[in-house]
This record gives sequence, C-alpha cells and structure tokens, in this order.
Amino acid sequence: MSSVYIGLISGTSADAIDAVAVDIDAQGSTTQLATAAIDLPGDLRKKIFEVQSQSNTLQEIGTLDAQLGEAFANAVLQLIETNNINKAEINAIGSHGQTVLHQPDGEFPFTMQLGDPNIIAERTGITTVADLRRRDMAAGGQGAPLVLAFHQAWLGEQQNTAVLNMGGIANITVLADNADEPLLGFDTGPANTLLDAWTRKHLNKPYDENGQWAQQGKVHKPLLESLLKHPYFRQAPPKSADINQFELKWLQNFIRMFDSIAEQDVAATLVEFSVTSIAGAINQWAKETQQVVACGGGCKNKFLMHRLAKQLAPITLHTSNEFGIDVDWVEATAFAWLAYRTLHQQTGNAPRSTGAKGPRILGGIYYAS
Ligand SMILES: Nc1ncnc2c1ncn2[C@@H]1O[C@H](COP(=O)(O)OP(=O)(O)O)[C@@H](O)[C@H]1O
Ligand SMILES: [Mg+2]
Repeated sequence: MSSVYIGLISGTSADAIDAVAVDIDAQGSTTQLATAAIDLPGDLRKKIFEVQSQSNTLQEIGTLDAQLGEAFANAVLQLIETNNINKAEINAIGSHGQTVLHQPDGEFPFTMQLGDPNIIAERTGITTVADLRRRDMAAGGQGAPLVLAFHQAWLGEQQNTAVLNMGGIANITVLADNADEPLLGFDTGPANTLLDAWTRKHLNKPYDENGQWAQQGKVHKPLLESLLKHPYFRQAPPKSADINQFELKWLQNFIRMFDSIAEQDVAATLVEFSVTSIAGAINQWAKETQQVVACGGGCKNKFLMHRLAKQLAPITLHTSNEFGIDVDWVEATAFAWLAYRTLHQQTGNAPRSTGAKGPRILGGIYYAS
C-alpha cells in the first residue's frame, strides 16, 4: 500500500502555508520527501489577522474559510507538481487549518480553525483529515498541544528531553524515559507573536530578521516584570494559549505605564519575555530536563536562540535539524503523521497532557471520492 502523507499547516504567525510530503512506514516512522512554504495569496494574511482580532462578520469568516480551503488545496497541488509526486501514491492530507480563535476554558470550550477541508479534498482529489483538535476538546482536553504524540513517536528514545516549538506561541513536550506517552506538554506562552506584531507596527516588516533589531535594544526590566505577571504563567498545566491573550493592545497598556521606552528596547524586552517564560516553564514543570530540542520559526531568530541558550544553561539547547527534521517542517510533519494515525484508526492525542479523558482518534475524514 502506498504510504505517502502530506502535512499542511498555516500557524498563528500566518507567515506561510507549510506543506510537507512524508513517507510513513508500518512502524509509523516518517521520512521527508518534499517540502514547500507557500505564501498566503493576496491579502489573506491581513484578513487572518483581522479575524484573529475578532472584529469580523460571519460573512467575512465564512468567506475566509473557503478562501483558505482554496489556498491550502493550491499549496498541495503546487507541492505535488513542483516535486513530481505521483498523486496516486498519496494516501491522505492531514490539514491543521488556520487557527483564528482558541478558547479551551469556560463552560463551552471551543477552538476554531479555518480552511474548509471539503474544498481541499475536492480540489486535490486526495482524502483529507482535518478538524484535528476538537475531539480532544470534546473529551475534556485543551485540544492542544497536538504534536505531543508525534514528538513521542519521533524522539521517544531521547531521555530527559523537552521538545520546544516556537511559532507564534511556544509549546513544549516533555519526554520521559521509557514512557508510552509524553510526561507533559503545554503552551508556555508567546514565542514570536508579540515580537512580530511590534515589528510589523514599527518597522513594517513581518518579523525581526535574526533578531537584529531587538539585539540593539536594552531590556526594560520593569516592563518585563509587568509582562511576566500575566495570569497565564500562574496557571498549572494542562493549559493552552491563544494569541489574543498576548496581543499588542495588552502590551501597550503596560508600555503606557512607563516613561517613553525606545521601540527597540521594547523589542529586546519582548525577546526576553518569551525566553524567560519558556525557560521558567521548563524549570518549573520539567525539572529533569537535560536537553531542549527546538523547532519552529523562532529558531531562525539568532538573538532569541542566544538568549534562550543563556537562560536554559546548564540545560543544552539543540535544534530539530540535529534529530533529522528541519526546524521549519516539524509541525507540518506532525499533521501528516496525525492523518496517518486517524486513517489507521489509531489515537493521536496525548490525554495526560491535554487533559482529555482518554486517547481518541482525531479529526474528520473527507474522502477523495
Ligand atoms: N530569519 C528569521 N529571523 C527572525 N525570526 C524569524 C525568521 N524566520 C522566521 N522567524 C519567525 O518565525 C515565525 C514563523 O514561525 P512558524 O514556526 O512558522 O510559526 P507558526 O507556526 O506560528 O506559523 C515568523 O513569524 C518569525 O517570527
Ligand atoms: Mg508558520
């Protein structure tokens, strides 16, 4: 039987659609075949940020859902075409979709990912597994992080290791010795989201390339201390964060409390904020950790990585490249793997970490025909 799976995601940073084709063997081990980072077409990125800030109408949200479905489908078609992949060999697409709102707590928890999987299946002619978070949530879990079981399958032989994914939000997976399931996994708080928003506002660029701007600034200690008082950091896991909890407006309320702070000093403080909250979470909840394996776009921010290595020491900081998957492709690979699990009627969540009542087969299947 063919065993190629495609993983698809556009993360909270909405920087690109990441698509990866992987071969998955009978043991569930993945081998990367091809990758593509595809720009979001037109003004979709702007629209995503508008919807994320919750100011939109149902009409616009419905339209965005369909537009993203088309964009994801095109990303797959482009991946296939550019790399001459035989479509007949592809078993399924695992599509995460674009998160626009994530509210795991309260009486009626929900999480909302856009990018209609019906459209993906229809346009590509490939079976699509999607809506991967909500079953875990229905079973009492946070619906996040979802990549834990994949991290366990991939790096389970590593001891006292934390896998750290730094997208808009940072999440960690704590791998224990000889366990079937990760010991723990949760969102630690922001990685790039605030820094990106600040850079967009003041430099009109999508992100601070290599952290060059932040590197020129000085950490404003009182601002840093105020940010670290966010109630999210006092919550015990399981917990998951929404980027709306760490948005520009929230930051600006604090900035106003102090005499004018230079923009680059705020940038430096935001890097320190992410780094301190990540290292703090590892020190508090994953005391046995000896090595951190980092992935996600945050690894490209050299200044952030430098500060993180300093704060984590003596815990060593590595990137996923050293363990066979480039930092850019871990998440998309996880969603290909989750599609594989679902189609094999195998569970994909890590209930001990998400807080769900038990293991569940995740997602809905949208058949090719
Ligand atoms: N060269 C770079 N320098 C600094 N930051 C970068 C660089 N490349 C990527 N990033 C950061 O990584 C983010 C994208 O990371 P990604 O893992 O795709 O996040 P998400 O899963 O939220 O989409 C960008 O928004 C940016 O903050
Ligand atoms: Mg991304």
